[in-house]
Amino acid sequence: MENHQQQNTRAQWGSRLGFILAAAGSAVGLGNLWKFPYITFENGGGAFVLVYLGAIVLVGAPIMIAEVLLGRKTQRGPVGAFRLLGRDRPGGVAWTGVGILGVVTGFVILSYYSVVAGWTLRYIVLALSGKLAPLAHDPAALQTFFGTFLSNPWQQTFFHLVFMGATVGVVFFGVGRGIERAARILMPVLFLILLALVFYVVWTPGFNQALTFIFRPNFSELTRGGVLEALGHSFFTLSLGMGAMLTYGSYMRKKTSIPRAAITVCVLDTLIAVMACIIMFSIIFSFDFEITKSSTILFTTLPVVFFKLPGGVVISALFYILVAFAALTSTISLLEVVASYAIDEFGWARRRATLIMGGSIALFGILNALSLGGVQRLSEINLIGRPSTAGVFGTLDYLASNWFLPVGGFLIALFVGWVLTKDENLQELETGHGRMKTFGIWRFLLRFAAPLAVGAIIVSVILGAEYQ
Ligand code: PHE
Repeated sequence: MENHQQQNTRAQWGSRLGFILAAAGSAVGLGNLWKFPYITFENGGGAFVLVYLGAIVLVGAPIMIAEVLLGRKTQRGPVGAFRLLGRDRPGGVAWTGVGILGVVTGFVILSYYSVVAGWTLRYIVLALSGKLAPLAHDPAALQTFFGTFLSNPWQQTFFHLVFMGATVGVVFFGVGRGIERAARILMPVLFLILLALVFYVVWTPGFNQALTFIFRPNFSELTRGGVLEALGHSFFTLSLGMGAMLTYGSYMRKKTSIPRAAITVCVLDTLIAVMACIIMFSIIFSFDFEITKSSTILFTTLPVVFFKLPGGVVISALFYILVAFAALTSTISLLEVVASYAIDEFGWARRRATLIMGGSIALFGILNALSLGGVQRLSEINLIGRPSTAGVFGTLDYLASNWFLPVGGFLIALFVGWVLTKDENLQELETGHGRMKTFGIWRFLLRFAAPLAVGAIIVSVILGAEYQ
């Protein structure tokens, strides 16, 4: 099985910013806007944020550089990249398994991520039609509304399919005309909406308290589980461990500097996660709101507070549009990994690959959509046996974020750090960059810090530590 696509015909980003926009689009998503604020809240703020920042710098950034390096060096997706480079080295073709794991992970994550992304569409409609306001004035009614929405099989399926349709619609048009163009429009809009919201919350009474909560570390709040959660989340939020960054790197020009581009993406992703926290906590602290279930802050708490502010309709509509955009540029990258696998490995035309792979993920994803209360049998399946892993959705999310991504990232770090030679790495990283003064630091982090830290996650999950 050789690569069907000629190397010199591989698509490339149309501009220098193409990679950065698309990769930042992939990284910034529900992980930043939905998950990070609520896990920060659960873990008591400051100290958790500090560990998370440490994980991004010491583990996330080095692995991000390694992934992009693999993609650009081989001009292939994860399966092709590992097959090509693994071939004549220790481990041989077995390395191809890392690529296959990546494609499977992309399939799995997209199948449930798109369900949550669909909720944002429901909320946009709700906000714009004026129906969110009355619900938001009655928190109990909003809770009930959200619960009923989750267990409505038709609505869950409908919004999931609409979101998948939008994702397929973009990937269908390819790297430059589809993905890059979407990112070029959506990312600046997203950043502007976020900036407008930050500017708005600066004037709210809870702003100072929010800053203190986010930035003043209180180590007595930090648990072992929290440390591991911060580390695991750094993979999810940076889209690492499954070949998304590798695939986007394979479209990168040789003139672009990999370290600079990768670090820019890490910085943007972190900045946006922190901005999301500032917005949400300022609003929450302004109203002394008691949070009962933190994982639904985005859908059951925020609307209540949005409508206590002047201009609630506009703010809430803008906010959910922002979340939907962020999610879309992430789902695009998930589908691209799976679709480009079919393009590269089976020689399918892009349109066919996008429709068939996107269609299969959409169909499979219906199981997730129905497992939130809509179909009892699907909500009851619990292979892992923890309360948070109940249902098809819970099981898949647990497997993907706690196992597949960290294991994938661990193997990528081992492969680039230990199997590829120092010279090979140096050569690829200096192409488009010039002399890389930080090469030694990068290589050290990749060979030691990253595998040790990720190894710690894996071992602790095996030992059943409180890592969800
Ligand atoms: N990084 C995305 C987010 O934070 C999720 C994602 C994970 C996207 C893995 C692609 C690959 O929402």
